[in-house]
Amino acid sequence: MKLFIDTANITEIKEMAEAGVIDGVTTNPSLVAKEGHQFHKLIAEICAIVNGPVSAEVMALNTADMVTEAHKLAKIHANVVIKIPMTMDGLRAVRILTSEEIATNVTLVFSPNQALLAAKAGAKFVSPFVGRIDDCGGDGMDLVTQIMDIYDNYAFDTEVIVASVRHPLHVVQAALIGADIATLPYAILKKMPDHPLTDIGITRFLSDWEGGRKNG
Ligand code: E4P
Repeated sequence: MKLFIDTANITEIKEMAEAGVIDGVTTNPSLVAKEGHQFHKLIAEICAIVNGPVSAEVMALNTADMVTEAHKLAKIHANVVIKIPMTMDGLRAVRILTSEEIATNVTLVFSPNQALLAAKAGAKFVSPFVGRIDDCGGDGMDLVTQIMDIYDNYAFDTEVIVASVRHPLHVVQAALIGADIATLPYAILKKMPDHPLTDIGITRFLSDWEGGRKNG
C-alpha cells in the first residue's frame, strides 16, 4: 500500500519524507492557499523533496482552460499529477491529457459511477473523499469497496486514492479493503506510530536496564 501526505506544507512533507513513510503528495486549492506561497514554486519545492506523484489541482472549470493550466503544471516536474474535478468538462480534459501521457487524478469523487467514468476516461488516479461522505451520514469506505470491486471486475489500471481521511481507523480500513493508496493529513500520520503500550514498554525496559546496571 502506498501512503501519500495530503498537505502543501513543506515542513510537514520534509518530516515525513525523512521518515521514509510517504510515497507521494496530494495538494488541493484550500491546502495551497493556507501556505500563502506562489503555487508553481510550491509544487516545484515539493517535487524536489518527494520522489513520487505530486498532485496539483487546476482551477479552471472548462475543458480548454483545464488543459492549458495542466500543460503549465506538467512542465514543473515529471512527477506532477494533474488533479481534475469530477465533471463532464473534467473527463474531457482527462481524455486529452491521457492521450498526451500526462497523469491525472480525478478528484471530488462521491459515487461508484463517477469512479467508473474517471477510469473510462483514462485517469491514472481517482480520489473518493471518504471523510466528507461520513460527515453527511454516509459510509465512505463502502464507496471505496465498490470502486475497488468495479475496477477489479474490468481490470481497470486506475489507482484508488482514499482521500479526505479523518482518523487512523480510516487508514486501517483502506488497507484491509486493499485500496492502492491513502492520502493522509500530517496530523494522522503523526498519530500512527503511537501506542501507549509502546511508551510503557520503553519506560519499563529503561528502568529495568538502569536497575540491572546498578546491581551489576
Ligand atoms: C484529497 O486529495 C483532498 O486533498 C483531501 O483529502 C480533502 O480532504 P478534506 O475533506 O479533509 O478537505
